This record gives sequence, structure tokens and C-alpha cells, in this order.
Amino acid sequence: MKIGVFDSGYGGLTILSKIRQHLPFYDYIYLGDNARAPYGSRSFEVIYRYTLQAVRHLESEGCRLIILACNTASAKALRTIQQHDIDPARLRVLGVIRPTVEAVRGCHIGVLATQGTVQSESYVLELDKQWQMQQTGGGELYVTQQACPMWVPLIESGEHLSQGADYFVDKYLCELWNKDPLIDTLILGCTHYPLLLPKIRAWVEEHTTHNRMGLKEGEGVCGVQIIEQGDIVARSLRDYLSRHGDIEGLLSRGGTCRYLTSEQADKFNLSAGIFLSTPVSAEHIEI
Ligand code: DGL
Repeated sequence: MKIGVFDSGYGGLTILSKIRQHLPFYDYIYLGDNARAPYGSRSFEVIYRYTLQAVRHLESEGCRLIILACNTASAKALRTIQQHDIDPARLRVLGVIRPTVEAVRGCHIGVLATQGTVQSESYVLELDKQWQMQQTGGGELYVTQQACPMWVPLIESGEHLSQGADYFVDKYLCELWNKDPLIDTLILGCTHYPLLLPKIRAWVEEHTTHNRMGLKEGEGVCGVQIIEQGDIVARSLRDYLSRHGDIEGLLSRGGTCRYLTSEQADKFNLSAGIFLSTPVSAEHIEI
């Protein structure tokens, strides 16, 4: 049995590579629904239908555990799939939003995400839930969301290092900081966004000066904690498997990874190079 990793496109590769660094011995199948990406501006019904089709496909390929390495799918489809479409005795499906929220330590949170994730309010709800659990008295949580609709198309087309990308990084971060100038935590709530991290970090460094969180070295710039999901999701999966020996015991350990795409395989192979350091040989599928 394998671990399935699903994303609308290439972004989930940033999560997959971290999972494979932490847990190299399992067998994986990555599925990118590249032909129908981006999902970010699609309706709930469409994202749910596409995600369920991908889950069914991964299940038919022998996956026993599936990670929705896509915030948009996690936000809009995960709960319905978990509650209505799968038998947990045969398949488990996990998302990326809850583990991400658990890494937050500040109280002025900026969430950068696709339109779909922002509209779902999933981050707001999860952050609030966690805040209520942690609070023993006083203190307030401020969550400010910013949709970044141009970032995924820029990254998917390999333009994330261009001056055009500088413009759109500045645009969305300015809009976010205008809404809350005291942001102390920045969630990169889309699996594509780590590719813009150097530009985001440079912007934050240049535009923020407060240092109120006592972060350890390397954890943030100017006191702003920037949360990337790769390591967080990988650690959360490792914990999950250590708590669920029944599932872990079923997973095969060949250290392999297959790549499936709804797009042409050679196009996937070329573009995957932006996200991965090793070449891949994908298979085209119809879902
Ligand atoms: N990578 C997906 C996410 O994490 C979004 C990309 C898309 O819009 O399809 O939200």
C-alpha cells in the first residue's frame, strides 16, 4: 500500500519532497490535476468533485492514505470527503490546514492563500479553534486574509523569479499589511508559495521592524514568523503514522515515487523541474 499525495497542480511537489526527506522509505504516488488547475477560483462543488475524483483514482492505484497537499482542496473538499465519501477502515484522507495552524505562535496572523481558501474561511475557523483551546485568559487573535490570485499562474508558468513577480509580491503584501500593520505571523497557505519565499522574505525584511515574538535564529525575519508547510506537514504525517500503527503496518517500503498527471506527461516532467531537484518521468492519466 502506498501514500498518495494530491495537488491541483505542481505546488504539492513542495510538500511531497519534504515528506520524502522525512519519510524516505515508503512508496508514494503523486497526482497533479494539472489539466484542470488552478483550482483557486473554482466553486466549492467543482473543487469537491475534482478532488473526490483524484482521491478515487489514488485509491484505485493502491493508496491507503492520501494527503491533500493542496490548501484549496483541504479547505473546500476534505471535510465532506472524510464525512461522506470514504470508509476510514479502508482509506484515510488528511489535509494540510490543521497542521499548519498548529505551528502558529503569534496573535496577528496574516494568511496568504488562493481565493477559494480565503472564501472558505477555513484558516480563520481553525486558528480561532486553536486560540480558544490555548487561551487561559485574556488576549485577542487577529486573523487577516489576503487572496493572491496572480501568484499560482506566475509560478506555474515559471515566472516566479521575474520582475513581474516582484510587482505582485509587493501588491498583495502591501494590501495585507495595510489591513493589519502589526502582523507577526505570515502563513503561506498555498503549496505553490514557497517558490516565492525569497521575495516574500525580502519584502518582509524591508517593510517590518517590530520584533515582539522572541523567535529563535532562522525562524523569522524582523520578528515575523513565516510559516511554510513542507516540513510541518511531513512532521505531522510522521506523528500520525506513529500513532496509527494499523495503517503504518500496511504501507510498503520500497522508497519509490510515481508521478501521475492529468496533463501531458512531458509537460509535467519539464515544469516539475521548477519544484524538484531531480528529474521525474510522469504518466498521463484520465480522471
Ligand atoms: N496549490 C494549491 C493550494 O495549496 C492551489 C493552486 C490552485 O489554485 O490550484 O491551495
